[in-house]
Amino acid sequence: MVAVPYLKVKRGVVMKNRVNRVVLIGTGFVGSSYAFALLNQGVTEEMVLIDLNKDKSEGDAMDLNHGMPFAPSPTSIWFGDYSDCKEADLVVITAGANQKPGETRLDLVEKNAKIFKGIVNHVMDSGFDGIFLVATNPVDILTYAVWKFSGLPKDRVIGSGTILDTARFRFLLGEYFKVDTRNVHAYIIGEHGDTELPVWSHADIAGKNIDDWIRKEENFRKEDLNSIFLNVRDAAYQIIERKGATYYGIAMGLVRLTKAILQNENSVLTVSAYLDGEYGHDDVYIGVPAIVNRNGIRDIVELDLNSEEKDQFSQSVNVLKKTLEPIRK
Ligand code: 2OP
Repeated sequence: MVAVPYLKVKRGVVMKNRVNRVVLIGTGFVGSSYAFALLNQGVTEEMVLIDLNKDKSEGDAMDLNHGMPFAPSPTSIWFGDYSDCKEADLVVITAGANQKPGETRLDLVEKNAKIFKGIVNHVMDSGFDGIFLVATNPVDILTYAVWKFSGLPKDRVIGSGTILDTARFRFLLGEYFKVDTRNVHAYIIGEHGDTELPVWSHADIAGKNIDDWIRKEENFRKEDLNSIFLNVRDAAYQIIERKGATYYGIAMGLVRLTKAILQNENSVLTVSAYLDGEYGHDDVYIGVPAIVNRNGIRDIVELDLNSEEKDQFSQSVNVLKKTLEPIRK
């Protein structure tokens, strides 16, 4: 028998032995839900809250601190200012205006790009040299803006991209096929918005392609798949119509990303990443599966898309590039 050599994996990452610090900018619905989820999952040793509304971030810090006896591990939480970013490993931005009923994500671009210029300048002036995670909409555009304004390497600027859309997709497919959503492997890629697309050609449940699942039972019908996707794409509109904003899902997605980064997980997550030739496109941030670790984006996973998916993805890139024009200048 041939002996299998033991593979020594070198991750190429120098782990710091000091504590992890996350600075959150924007303690609105998304930000404060994220802070709550982060504390509950014991992901970081330090969490700093910054908001234009200082009373709100101070109140949040007090409120969260009072939950400490029930948290899985201690977290120092305080309301702070931009000077706290100097020692931060991760700065998460959730600040900015959000969609009103009927508004698209792209409608927010002008307002939020202006707000972002100020925020990023303040963060960089502190001497920050960590990773940015952006969640404000339109997220792909604002992630590009953060990369451009900060001058940081592209791998250290990450957008939440289609992490939530992929989660919605996995949830709805799990419900439909009556299988735990964690066994569903399927991605939504493209703009986090109206031009996103499902990658049906690589969608599987427990290693079996979706088409095999459809064939398995007569209750499962191919025509239902499109309405599953439409419910994913339009989920934010449906929720905003009912309760004015979405925040729990994205907050949990951001915590998942924070863990992947701080714990050097090398996890594959659909994030907004900078394309530099991948998928045949460049100079755009867009939702794609990527390997995420302590250094940020280690690599983009290039799926072998079919021709319809390639066309849809290109359309999505074009919409984003057009919206990006004023920021590129
Ligand atoms: C969402 O998809 C509005 O982008 C936010 O829930």
